[in-house]
Amino acid sequence: MSLQDDRDSILDLTQKLLVCITRGDWDTYKELCCPSLTCFEPEALGNLVDGLDFHQYYFNLPASSTPVQSTIVAPHIRIMGDVAVIAYVRLTQKIADGKPVTAAMEETRVWHRQQGKWKHVHFHRSPAR
Ligand code: GLY
Repeated sequence: MSLQDDRDSILDLTQKLLVCITRGDWDTYKELCCPSLTCFEPEALGNLVDGLDFHQYYFNLPASSTPVQSTIVAPHIRIMGDVAVIAYVRLTQKIADGKPVTAAMEETRVWHRQQGKWKHVHFHRSPAR
């Protein structure tokens, strides 16, 4: 595996992660994430979240009946052996009050190669300014 192969894998896996979040596909999310995933995200109101239960709540909600699309903008990927960090802005297009709107979030995600498979171990999401 070359450095470029690892970079391609991290971008593909991150895209897959965002698609499964958008689709409410819990099985794929669980497969991609380490059970001890940690994060800071706006929904946790400044608290560090540890584990997957907090995230599962959102997957149990009814899926959106209107189209939602996430786009990774200008990703920066750093590979450090068996650890990878990807940082980017995520644009999410959705329908609100019948009109298309776009939200922007700054996201940093950390991946760890465990037994030869990349697992998502930490992320930080905040609204882009
Ligand atoms: N809110 C779940 C995630 O961004 O991974």
